[in-house]
Amino acid sequence: MRLRSTAVHINTVALTGATGYIASHVAVALAAQGHRLVGIDNLSNSSQIVVDRVAELIDGPMPFVKLDVRDTVGLTEVLAEHEVDAVIHLAGLKAVGESVTDSLRYHDNNVGGTISLLRAMQSASVPALVFSSSATVYRPDQPSPLTESSRIGPGNPYGRTKSIAEQIIDDVAASSSLRAVHLRYFNPVGAHESGRIGEDPIGPPNNLMPFTMQVAAGQREMLQIFGDDYNTPDGTCIRDYIHVSDLADGHVAALGAFGSIETSEAINLGTGRGSSVLDVLRSAEKAADRPIPHQIVGRRDGDSAVSFADPSHALERLGWQATRSLDDACQDHWRWQHQNPTGYRTSP
Ligand code: NAD
Ligand code: UD1
Repeated sequence: MRLRSTAVHINTVALTGATGYIASHVAVALAAQGHRLVGIDNLSNSSQIVVDRVAELIDGPMPFVKLDVRDTVGLTEVLAEHEVDAVIHLAGLKAVGESVTDSLRYHDNNVGGTISLLRAMQSASVPALVFSSSATVYRPDQPSPLTESSRIGPGNPYGRTKSIAEQIIDDVAASSSLRAVHLRYFNPVGAHESGRIGEDPIGPPNNLMPFTMQVAAGQREMLQIFGDDYNTPDGTCIRDYIHVSDLADGHVAALGAFGSIETSEAINLGTGRGSSVLDVLRSAEKAADRPIPHQIVGRRDGDSAVSFADPSHALERLGWQATRSLDDACQDHWRWQHQNPTGYRTSP
């Protein structure tokens, strides 16, 4: 691959999926570094209230357009009108179980949305793309720490949408002036330290941290721990939980790397530390200062015993590494949960 020499100056950034969990934190991190923003979201899994909360944290408005990224014409207009220099593409559906029962919807939204975005970026001459990918693109049997050259082979349709989108972006970058970074997130957890933005799942959460916090808050009766007979020190699965604010900082760092990016490149965003389900439980109990009712049940289909990142490529290429601990993430997640018991729905 050849290195391109033109420097990319990034002033204005479009965030797709802007009102979602991760993008709201990315917006705050970008604004803190002086970037101008435009947020785009169809609000299919988020609330417009997030726009006001972000504005509160960045001390100024975040321009926002309600739009589906599959509306290529509308998207092109937004990118051109705001003179966007780079897009961070976080819009997507992410529920693994739903992706199995309704795979076409996932491919349409996640793959179709990415194709539409690439067309719009071409039409509006936007040269740089950061794509929200996932550690779920790696084959479940790959040993940890996972590096960017671990074998790809997602075990579910959601993961395949991410892997396919990466490949489409690679093809476009190889044949045009587009430069792209795929950020492969491990397990994002936590919330902004202010307690004003955080994860607001609709319905029962599928993921460990929000479920645990809802049990701690008394909104759910019992945390079910899916298996304690794995080949790990305490028998429960090990994951790489990364504070969402560290993840957000990783996006800012990725924008700074475009000057030296070859056509496209994948970069893990994780801490490099593995924590078990019981570690998370203990840390959440400490943060909430109460015992959290739990029981061990059978394994969940599709879970692998151990998954954590080798984050050294991110340090080398982006000068980025995670700085917050699991305890920090639990404290911040608990503050968000405690201050917003029903998420964005009724909180002022
Ligand atoms: P989220 O659901 O909170 O945010 C995604 C946002 O995208 C939502 O606000 C939703 O309304 C919007 N959206 C979905 N389809 C859209 C479309 N067609 N047009 C416009 N907006 C659309 O999820 P999140 O956790 O913030 O995840 C953000 C991105 O990161 C997703 O692409 C997800 O796949 C990826 N990711 C998330 C995790 C995780 O554990 N949260 C892990 C790896 C990767
Ligand atoms: C899951 C998805 C992954 C996706 C990620 C973020 C699967 C197999 N993987 O990752 O593709 O990118 O979410 O959305 O679904 N756990 C419990 N009890 C619970 C919930 C979870 O014990 O109520 C355990 C799980 O078995 C797992 C760990 O906690 O060992 C973390 O689970 P979760 O938060 O769902 O993340 P992943 O499974 O790593």
